[in-house]
Amino acid sequence: MVTEQMLSEMQLEPEVPELDLSWLNLDTEWGVQSAPGRKGLTLQQINDTIYGEIPAMAADHTARPRGAAAASQSPRMGYVIGEATETFSDSAALLYDEAVSRQWSSATDIPWDTLDELPEDIERAMAQLCTSLTEVEFIAGDVPGKWLPRIAADHYESGLFLMSQVMDEARHTDVFRKRALANGGGLLLQGGGGGLRQILEAEDFTQMSSMLHILGEGFVQSLFRLGELIAHNEAEKRIFRLAAQDESRHVAFGVTHLKYTLENDPDKAEEVHWTLDMFENTLVDPDQANPGLAGALVYLLGDGDVDEGWRLFWHVRRKQVLEYLHRLDVAGLSGRQETGRLHPALAAAIEEN
Ligand SMILES: [Fe+2]
Ligand SMILES: [Fe+2]
Repeated sequence: MVTEQMLSEMQLEPEVPELDLSWLNLDTEWGVQSAPGRKGLTLQQINDTIYGEIPAMAADHTARPRGAAAASQSPRMGYVIGEATETFSDSAALLYDEAVSRQWSSATDIPWDTLDELPEDIERAMAQLCTSLTEVEFIAGDVPGKWLPRIAADHYESGLFLMSQVMDEARHTDVFRKRALANGGGLLLQGGGGGLRQILEAEDFTQMSSMLHILGEGFVQSLFRLGELIAHNEAEKRIFRLAAQDESRHVAFGVTHLKYTLENDPDKAEEVHWTLDMFENTLVDPDQANPGLAGALVYLLGDGDVDEGWRLFWHVRRKQVLEYLHRLDVAGLSGRQETGRLHPALAAAIEEN
């Protein structure tokens, strides 16, 4: 039976714990202000404060935001890469700000209604190119995604940039898939995948970035910039133009990361050269390359005329190689051509054309 006393005990107010107000009295930097500029309040502007100081070595492996006070009970989160030279780029914040402001929609920003019926061979070639690109872009998203959980919170600018790249590559994956399926074609032959696997399996961030951002995406960017040569309508032109804009940021991150790394750790140069030796070879080796990609590209470039297609293919390849060498120069890794280290097939592309 419930007695009166039991009832009154049940109605007692729960004991209120003492409010922890230790956060009112911390020794972090206070009084910091940032005003929006022409482009709004960007990461770069908040980085103009003391919170923008980037430690060369992030000793903290917890999720503590850079500049916040440490909490002794916080667990380590698996951010195993502490050295800034491993993952950082001075341009990461700027490139992230730019990525956020230049997002576009494959659903509504492409004039899909300009896709007129094409001759079947041309539609097949475009479907093949888009099949290959869908596969490549998917891995281009997987790779930064794989590295994200290793990068210290102190180097969050690189983390945020890579997150924006994952979003960009998601859009590239879907836009090429949409193009393959939107105009009476379909998906054709998948690629060999060996080169993609090589990037995915890199055990060092700078090696990965040299393959993905500088060489792989660099070649893709040079190609997309020449998209007018491949496109048959406004929709395709817009796809290549918008994707090239995104690729520029990915390539720029790779170049500025390599520059930062080599300035701070010049011994890494040989390691990067070695990685590029391997990956250049993969890119030009017909056994490892994507059998559909080159064929479709030649076919589209020549608009069905294979001789003209090859002529334009070498024009594209020459531009790809020249721009690749220029990027390496900017990053401080010069001399591949002069020392005969550039793969002979790539060297030939700029010598004979
Ligand atoms: Fe992409
Ligand atoms: Fe990309």
